[in-house]
Amino acid sequence: MILVTGGTGLLGSHLLFDLVSAGRPVRAIKRETSNTGMVKKVFSYYSDTADELFGKIQWVDADIMDFRAMDDALEGIDHVYHAGAVVSFYPRHHKTMLRTNTEGTANLVNLCIDRKIRKFCYVSSVAVLGRAVNDGISDENTWWQPSNKNSVYGQSKYGAEREVWRGMEEGLNAFIVNPSVILGPGFWDGGNSGLFSLVWKGLKYYTRGVNGYVDVRDISRAMILLMDSNISGERFIVSSENISYQQLFEYMAKYLGKPAPSINVPPALTGLAWRVEAVRSFIMRSKPEVTKEMATTTAQVYTYSNEKLRKAIGFEFIPVEQSVKEISEIFLRDHQA
Ligand SMILES: NC(=O)c1ccc[n+]([C@@H]2O[C@H](COP(=O)([O-])OP(=O)(O)OC[C@H]3O[C@@H](n4cnc5c(N)ncnc54)[C@H](OP(=O)(O)O)[C@@H]3O)[C@@H](O)[C@H]2O)c1
Repeated sequence: MILVTGGTGLLGSHLLFDLVSAGRPVRAIKRETSNTGMVKKVFSYYSDTADELFGKIQWVDADIMDFRAMDDALEGIDHVYHAGAVVSFYPRHHKTMLRTNTEGTANLVNLCIDRKIRKFCYVSSVAVLGRAVNDGISDENTWWQPSNKNSVYGQSKYGAEREVWRGMEEGLNAFIVNPSVILGPGFWDGGNSGLFSLVWKGLKYYTRGVNGYVDVRDISRAMILLMDSNISGERFIVSSENISYQQLFEYMAKYLGKPAPSINVPPALTGLAWRVEAVRSFIMRSKPEVTKEMATTTAQVYTYSNEKLRKAIGFEFIPVEQSVKEISEIFLRDHQA
């Protein structure tokens, strides 16, 4: 049986869909506060039998930080996909994020070693690759470098990835995927899916920063192919293309039928934006719309090579424009309903 963590999130829900559609027996952890309705919703984007497929998942309540509950969740499991994490660029989440991502992963790795789990997949991030390297394409050998450009999220994922490498040294049969920015449908109020909502509402600004993007379906497919292969002890960047935020927003605007953002925000102004927003949100006691980390990331040029995964399993990626087109179609259906 397979265990999935993070199954109620963007990536995890797509992974669950692929696994149960393939008839694999799956257990997924959730918390009392988790919204499993979103998982059903995601299933309904791809299948007319969403309820039936959803019913095949064995849900168990467990927080990643709850050692005992995680140990129970691993009973009878032979393969683990660890996609659960706190993903946030808001300072008030920093402490929980560092603990959950690093300590939670360390605990799970230890439990999997103890229980002699057959194979373990860890979902890391390109945020753990050398952020200081700004003038070349990062690949799997671009190792972490201390830098003020690293986000706290990146630090938490780096700490977690180190725990997985440590686990491999101690005998865990594992591999790591490092996705770039994930594009997928359904979670329209936040994260990267929230970008579709921003463009839909008439976003006017863009930056010339560049990042890697990947369709959520590609990551899920790559994880399952790697899990089913003989490959282990390695990490793989999962990223379709490197494009500018300007280009990304132009694709979104095109397929959502909105005007493309037309005002370029130079790096100096993104610096001003997060400072003004920090003061405003402090006074208003609200969530800042732009944080220092968001401003820093969107102003930088980060590019990633996907050659290793292509060569290892002959993987072909969905082009970013096609992903944006298909996600926009789902967005429009959701917003017309
Ligand atoms: N989004 C990206 O662009 C991106 C890029 C690269 C890598 N990644 C990595 O990909 C993975 C999935 O990301 P995502 O975008 O799908 O994230 P997401 O939508 O925010 O989902 C996060 C998942 O983690 C679960 N989780 C968080 N804290 C937990 C805890 N203490 N105990 C149990 N479950 C917990 C959440 O459960 P609840 O529903 O209970 O909150 C949710 O299922 C993460 O490891 C992330 O670091 C993401």
